Amino acid sequence: MLRHYLPRFLQKVLQGNRAMAIAEPTSLPAEGVHPVSDLSATEGSAIEQIIPKIRPYSMVPNLGLEYLVQAVQSVIGQQIPGDFVECGVWKGGCAAAMRLTENLLQPQSPRLLHLFDSFEGLPPVQSIDGPLARRWQEDVNSPGYFDNCTASLELVQQNFHQLGILNSTVKFYKGWFETTVPQFVQQNPESKIAILRLDGDWYESTKVCLENLYPLVSENGIIIIDDYYYWDGCALAVHEYLGKQGLNHRIRSIADFSSAYMIKQAHREV
Ligand SMILES: C[S@@+](CC[C@H](N)C(=O)[O-])C[C@H]1O[C@@H](n2cnc3c(N)ncnc32)[C@H](O)[C@@H]1O
Repeated sequence: MLRHYLPRFLQKVLQGNRAMAIAEPTSLPAEGVHPVSDLSATEGSAIEQIIPKIRPYSMVPNLGLEYLVQAVQSVIGQQIPGDFVECGVWKGGCAAAMRLTENLLQPQSPRLLHLFDSFEGLPPVQSIDGPLARRWQEDVNSPGYFDNCTASLELVQQNFHQLGILNSTVKFYKGWFETTVPQFVQQNPESKIAILRLDGDWYESTKVCLENLYPLVSENGIIIIDDYYYWDGCALAVHEYLGKQGLNHRIRSIADFSSAYMIKQAHREV
């Protein structure tokens, strides 16, 4: 998620108030049970406690982090079964936000947190990712380059240790998604996912994660697509996958079009 490329008007919206993050989904037509509509009373305090702690370890704007906290609250509140998965971890901020929120609400039975990353940055842009993505990767001196979004596994583990959440329920999968993700599914065919957070930027990275992990997402589980509004390849991978599978999921924006999500729901019920 590379915010510095946002058009100016979106940057302005990004600085807007939090109410937008919460109000937006309820203004959409009903799509059956909507996970974010059932916010617990602790919602405000969870956000206030957690986001400052993980802020240094994530590129995601605050509104996106707030949505993530709410998403965890929702799947716990609705008892949607499954683990939390992030593909594209960088310094671990989003992953930590999921775990810290869960610790606050349901510390007694932590779900597994599966974290996939090369821990050596993004793969090379392909033409399908679009000219903006190519320019971004070529511009190695840009302040938003972040060394090609590189953070080592050791750094992420150190961050988790400092936050007090490094333990055996956190599983790290180091390597390219193209290898690690299918291998995970092969070895864990019965796994269930409650939240699937896709943050790998490019077409191929998004495609391989959707193809392999979407089938494991529980009914009413949440799939967050961080780069949907940023990179052409990511949006294309999502549309291709939904089209090929004949899935009718609506793409919903987080707050301010900084990222998107969809609910795995076979049909609109109400
Ligand atoms: C934009 S960063 C993730 C940001 C992070 N979620 C946060 O909270 O700030 C993208 C990450 O995806 C990883 N990545 C992208 N494509 C990948 C692939 N095909 N295989 C493994 N890692 C990949 C990069 O190494 C990088 O850490």
